[in-house]
Amino acid sequence: MSEIHKIAVLTSGGDAPGMNAAIRAVVRAGINNGFEVFGVYNGYLGLVEGDIRPLNRGSVTNIINRGGTILGTARLPEFQDMEVTKKGADNLKALGIDALVVIGGDGTYHGALRLTKCGIRCVGLPGTIDNDIACTEITIGFDTAVNTAVECIDKLRDTSNSHQRCSIIEVMGRNCGDIAYAAGIAGGCDLIITSETGYDEKVVMDLVSKAKRQKRRHILIVFTEHITDVSALAQKIKEQTGFDSRATVLGHIQRGGIPTPFDRILATRLGVKAVHELMAGNSGVVIGLQHNEAVAIPIEEAFKMEKNIFRKYAVEINTNASK
Ligand code: F6P
Repeated sequence: MSEIHKIAVLTSGGDAPGMNAAIRAVVRAGINNGFEVFGVYNGYLGLVEGDIRPLNRGSVTNIINRGGTILGTARLPEFQDMEVTKKGADNLKALGIDALVVIGGDGTYHGALRLTKCGIRCVGLPGTIDNDIACTEITIGFDTAVNTAVECIDKLRDTSNSHQRCSIIEVMGRNCGDIAYAAGIAGGCDLIITSETGYDEKVVMDLVSKAKRQKRRHILIVFTEHITDVSALAQKIKEQTGFDSRATVLGHIQRGGIPTPFDRILATRLGVKAVHELMAGNSGVVIGLQHNEAVAIPIEEAFKMEKNIFRKYAVEINTNASK
């Protein structure tokens, strides 16, 4: 395999706090190890359009503490088309770029796998608030998103308690319940409902009715998105139990903000590891954190792994709810 001289980095899919820290780590570790480093702007869209510019140490100064991604990001379903992928690979080759570090989620790694088949050496970094990447115990951005959600839940607890209300909080996560589990546990919520726990409206009504009988001042219930219409549910709770209720959808607030020190450190460790993997001649791998070690896992193997950190709580949480 030929030696690598030039590498590029891009962010793709939904942004996540800590992506900038990961970009910084790749750029600085890359330069320290003798590579020329380039940034691809707006994810795979910029790759296909050829928006690829050199980065130096100064390009990544003052970004470790910034949310979002200085490179911009995009969702480009068309990149699944091998012809489009090939165009992106050709744009890298035209600049003499041999390798690419992609920061994003599963969809991003599928793109990286196709690029590898087009002769570009790729390494993936897990950047998503959802924590839905099985080959890593934690993704870059998850900790910050959970902190944001818990801060919001704490505030909702105050106002719910003052008004004697039930608060339904919807968090992000796509199909993964990890933000709901983590924020629900840390926020002291009464019930956590995710796609893994399953959803039974009767459990909610029983819980709220019991709280009403006990004259409790507030109830907090957290849902992962896409499970039910939380506003309609709040209305129904009020009608059926007499307990006043409100729904709050946290939405994209969870994706922004200053990354926590945990996310900055995680992103830096994984970013440096990505560069070391390229130096070792490895490609088609994702970097993950396992037993607190940064490790490289072949992308195809990573797709087959199952995530199970928080799932063990699911059954217990629902069982306790109606007692
Ligand atoms: O993958 C991150 C995420 O924020 C999910 O939690 C959410 O379902 C999705 O992205 C929202 O995507 P968009 O910002 O494109 O609406």
